[in-house]
Amino acid sequence: MITLQAANPAGLHGTLTVPGDKSISHRALMFGAIAHGQTRVHNFLTSADVLHTMGVLRALGVEITQEGTEATIEGRGLKHFTAPTQPLDMGNSGTSTRLLMGLLAKQPFDMEMFGDASLSRRPLDRVAKPLTAMGAKYQLTDDNYLPGKILANQELRGIEYHLPVASAQVKSAILLAGLQAEGTTTVISPLASRDHTERMLEQFGGHLQVDGLKVSVQAQDDLQAQDVTVPADISSAAFFIVAAIITPNSKLSLRHVGVNPTRDGILRLLKRMGAEITLSNPSTVGEPAADLTVASQKLAGITITAEDIPAVVDELPILALAATQAQGDTLISGAEELRVKETDRIAVVVETLNQLGADIEERPDGMLIHGGTPLKTSQPVELSAHGDHRIAMMIAVAALVTDGTVRLQDEESMAVSYPNFLTDLAQTQAGEV
Ligand code: S3P
Repeated sequence: MITLQAANPAGLHGTLTVPGDKSISHRALMFGAIAHGQTRVHNFLTSADVLHTMGVLRALGVEITQEGTEATIEGRGLKHFTAPTQPLDMGNSGTSTRLLMGLLAKQPFDMEMFGDASLSRRPLDRVAKPLTAMGAKYQLTDDNYLPGKILANQELRGIEYHLPVASAQVKSAILLAGLQAEGTTTVISPLASRDHTERMLEQFGGHLQVDGLKVSVQAQDDLQAQDVTVPADISSAAFFIVAAIITPNSKLSLRHVGVNPTRDGILRLLKRMGAEITLSNPSTVGEPAADLTVASQKLAGITITAEDIPAVVDELPILALAATQAQGDTLISGAEELRVKETDRIAVVVETLNQLGADIEERPDGMLIHGGTPLKTSQPVELSAHGDHRIAMMIAVAALVTDGTVRLQDEESMAVSYPNFLTDLAQTQAGEV
């Protein structure tokens, strides 16, 4: 348990580089493993989730070296994994589990897999169903959960699949299986979701056909190793963007943040709320990235609907905090997916922020946030993030603007995506970055 810092009157200041993008780091490891030759990854995220993907690939015989934020993967194609001697540990990582269920759907040996308590409550039928239709075989607890097994399988065939939810994890799992399937594999999404898998497949020399929300691939085992530079994670940057906006007298710059249009919903929605966020130095290689500059300013409430959600799905907890400080109401709807993240993020965000004096009504598919509520607690309050990294970081940012003492029980959960978050936050408090 730690006592969180309130903001000092001078606000947050400095120029910060937040760690590499989690989604892109997972994919760089996976594509590196199935390509031919040596892939180098720069600004690789060394957080618990990504290290679980690395551990699984190593357990399957892939040689990976990592020094700080540089990783090197010796790729040998799709057919040279070796049978693991132990169950594969997915930790807390839904992305590792779901993408690897697709990537490993055609191996000549069984693989057991397990995860932590939170991951063991998250649904896997969303990937198991389409992958089973392709010929893959799984044994899952209650047909839906870890612990489970990917069974030995020699045959995959392409399908055309309409995703019931706009999930990049499911889309990616099917496309990764499609690289090993007979015929064409097509995924049609109801709304655009993050397209890192598609971009990286192209970067590694692969072929795909994209037609609006429809993506198709055919079998290919000739991907070529690449140098991948991972931009800073916009999902991590979001905590500092909101912290700077809601903490008086602040001004922060964030370097080389990924601004892929399928991920930058937080910027668009904050702009809709009236915020000014300046983008500079756009990068010209790899995933779109730019430096962001943001200062304290006033926000106004907005209405957020289903179309907005995929590009901001991981940032909704911190956006909800921003909305508590905006003038007027903010309605978040069409966000039922939040209920199957690391925690039920609708229930947990509402409960947690209300404990700090916010006024939020829970809705089945989102929440109604009555803005303009000063956060305060007359007694020292002990909060739990329920093991959810993004809730833990939201609480740390909320504490900046809360009048009273806020304690956090499980700050270690931040290591899932941002191990040094509290150190970086303390440095911006001191203007030392
Ligand atoms: C991710 C996709 C999203 C996101 C998760 C990472 C990815 O999940 O919430 O943190 O890397 O593909 P869904 O695809 O289930 O929405």
